[in-house]
Amino acid sequence: MITRPGATMAQILDGKKIAADLRARLAVEVATLNQSRHIVPGLAVVLVGNNPASEVYVRMKKKACSDVGIASFSHELPADTSEETLLEQVALLNQDPRVHGILVQLPLPPRIREAQIIQAIAPEKDVDGFHPLNAGLLAIGRPGLRPCTPMGVMALIEAAGVDPAGKHAVVIGRSNIVGKPVAMMLLQAHATVTLCHSRTHQLEKVVALGDIVVAAVGRPRFVQGSWIKKGAVVIDVGTNRLADGSLCGDCDFASVQPRASAISPSPGGVGPMTIAMLLANTVQAAKQS
Ligand code: GUN
Repeated sequence: MITRPGATMAQILDGKKIAADLRARLAVEVATLNQSRHIVPGLAVVLVGNNPASEVYVRMKKKACSDVGIASFSHELPADTSEETLLEQVALLNQDPRVHGILVQLPLPPRIREAQIIQAIAPEKDVDGFHPLNAGLLAIGRPGLRPCTPMGVMALIEAAGVDPAGKHAVVIGRSNIVGKPVAMMLLQAHATVTLCHSRTHQLEKVVALGDIVVAAVGRPRFVQGSWIKKGAVVIDVGTNRLADGSLCGDCDFASVQPRASAISPSPGGVGPMTIAMLLANTVQAAKQS
C-alpha cells in the first residue's frame, strides 16, 4: 500500500544518497571488470559550443566517471562545428576500442540536426539510450540501453518501497528524453500509465488519479499539492532556474509534500540519479563489449 495513515509529511527521496550508494556499487564492479577481464570502462563526452549549463553538466559527468574508475575522454568542439565534422568525430569514437559509451551533450547548436547525430552513434555505445534502435527496444520491452533520467526515476520509485504493478502512474511531459521512455518503463513494470502533456484537458483531474506522479514539464512549481492524491509517490524531474538564480523543480514542494507519501526534491533528487545511471550504462556497455 502507498497510503500511510497518520503520516503528515512525505518521505524525502534523497537522490544524492541513493546515487552515492549506486556509485559505490559501480566502483566495485569496475574494479572487478578490470581484474577479471582487464577492461577499463570508457566514456567519451562530446560538447559542442559553450552553453554554460552544458559545460557544468559535462564537468559533473567527467568527475563522476573518475570517482568510480571509469576513463573519460573529453571532446570539446567549437560552436561553429559542422554536422559533418561532428559525424566524423562520432565515427572515430564508434571505432575506438577504449570507448564503451558515447555521450553527445544536448542541446546542439541549431545548425546541427540532433537526430542525425544520435542515429550515427553505435547503438551498443549509446549510453544515453536515445538511438532509435534502443528507443524501439524499450518500446517492445526487449533489453537495450535505457535513457538515464527515466532509469533514475524508476530507482527512486523503488527506493520509496513502491511496486508500480497495478498502480496508476501519471506522467506529465512527453519528451523523447524523459516522458515517453519513463511511461514505457512504468508500463513494463505493470503500471497503468497515463501520459499527459500541454494539451491534456483538466490536467489537475488526471494527475489526481495518480498513485505515482512523474512531473517532467519543465515549468517551475507547476504541479500543485491540491492536484495530488493523498499518499501518492511524486517524482520531480524538473530543474528550473528562477530569476534570482536559485533552482526549483516542476512541483510546488511546499504544497505537495504534505499530501504525498514520498517525494523527490529538486535539486537533489533525479539529477544525481541521472549521472549515476550514465555510469551504470557505461559499465553495462563495457561488460557487453
Ligand atoms: N542534455 C540534458 N540532458 C541530457 C542527457 O541526458 N543527455 C545528453 N546527451 N544531453 C543532455
